[in-house]
Amino acid sequence: MCRLDTAMALRILGSLCTFAALSVAAKPYSVLMADSVIARNTTLGLDASGAPKTDYQHGVIERALEMVYNATGDSKYYAYQKWGVDNIIDSAGKLLDYSLSDYILDDLRLGQEFLYLWLKTGEAKYKTAANTLRNQLNTQPRNKDGGFWHKLKYPNQMWLDGQYMALPFFAQHTALFAPTNLTALSDIVLQFTDLQIHALNRTSGLLDHGYDASHVAVWADHITGASPHEWIRAMGWYTMALLDVLDYFPKSHPGYAIILGYFKALMPAVVAAADPVTGGWWLVMDQPGRAKNYIESSGTAMFVYSLLKGVRVGFLDKKGGFVEAAEKAYEYMLEAFVVTNEDGTLDWEGTVKVGSLDGAGDYDYYVGVPLQTNDPKGVAAFIFASVEYEQK
Ligand SMILES: *[C@@H]1O[C@H](CO)[C@@H](O)[C@H](O)[C@H]1NC(C)=O
Ligand SMILES: *[C@@H]1O[C@H](CO)[C@@H](O)[C@H](O)[C@H]1NC(C)=O
Ligand SMILES: *[C@@H]1O[C@H](CO)[C@@H](O)[C@H](O)[C@H]1NC(C)=O
Ligand SMILES: *[C@@H]1O[C@H](CO)[C@@H](O)[C@H](O)[C@H]1NC(C)=O
Repeated sequence: MCRLDTAMALRILGSLCTFAALSVAAKPYSVLMADSVIARNTTLGLDASGAPKTDYQHGVIERALEMVYNATGDSKYYAYQKWGVDNIIDSAGKLLDYSLSDYILDDLRLGQEFLYLWLKTGEAKYKTAANTLRNQLNTQPRNKDGGFWHKLKYPNQMWLDGQYMALPFFAQHTALFAPTNLTALSDIVLQFTDLQIHALNRTSGLLDHGYDASHVAVWADHITGASPHEWIRAMGWYTMALLDVLDYFPKSHPGYAIILGYFKALMPAVVAAADPVTGGWWLVMDQPGRAKNYIESSGTAMFVYSLLKGVRVGFLDKKGGFVEAAEKAYEYMLEAFVVTNEDGTLDWEGTVKVGSLDGAGDYDYYVGVPLQTNDPKGVAAFIFASVEYEQK
């Protein structure tokens, strides 16, 4: 038996606690947040009843786990990502919760997770699942310019959000399986260009949340078809879409310079829209400081990721003020949105639950949507931003 006197026990406990505190402090935030995702058992690929669920929100968490796995080499992140992906397909690669006929662009976010596992394991089921999602685009309804509808439910509407869900996957799939398909490459450029033409606010340099080519949605401007506001998360998805597509898009194709040009023009406008006090960005970006508007955490994290990765890959000038803007916002996020619980897990605050163009798309709508603790879109974006911040 091991007998300890009280003083000795306290000394040992004390040094254990110091050790625990030190090791917590020494872990990067990307790792702490990914560990919290696993500790909370964010049930990737499943709904509340345990049934398979295709959910782009799980897709962004899975990508975040990939990044942390890449940064640490710790296989628990890979195992959790794979568990989540395996929950939504059967052994032949059939998607267990998917409806082609709804034409939901958001579903395509999962496509990159299938490609990742196909590249890593070589198992055919992942390629089959990726092909199912890629084939959706062959019959995806389009507006008169060729822009993909966001869903069958929203005729002629393009939302910025959908570009992140569909286009990096479309580009990666093309790079892997159809690198000579010039139609596919032009198609990717066209999606961005349609929005740049119709949803860009030339005063702010930012884009409105969506564009209805038929100009009939309740929110559509009668002349331009654009929605009335610049919503932070849609803008965040969009900056990440431009940036991540270029990981897979061939430099030799003229579309590369076009997409890069959109990104390089957009990021200074994003920096200009930052709140000078906190460094973060407003939920409704075109209404800074207005009553009920606030600094939103998921979009702020997406901009930090886009700025830091943009500089790292050489698209943005190291001395152009982009790093400083990202660092200021990152430090604010740690202070305002990251909460350390007693058990060492982190909570993430300040993320708005949704922002949809299903309704009026007006100011009162956006500011009336509740916030959600540990919202997967915000948690994932914080991990994206942290991985970039930590490798600077
Ligand atoms: C998470 O929950 C699911 C289903 O409720 C369970 O099958 C799985 O083992 C859990 N994973 C972890 C890491 O706790
Ligand atoms: C992780 O690394 C693999 C292998 O290099 C790469 O294919 C994948 O794109 C990386 N994932 C992310 C999210 O960066
Ligand atoms: C090339 O991409 C286009 C656009 O997505 C698609 O319609 C066509 O089927 C593809 N062609 C081939 C040979 O894969
Ligand atoms: C365009 O941006 C300016 C500057 O932020 C803003 O005042 C204006 O309301 C915006 N216009 C539209 C149509 O969104």
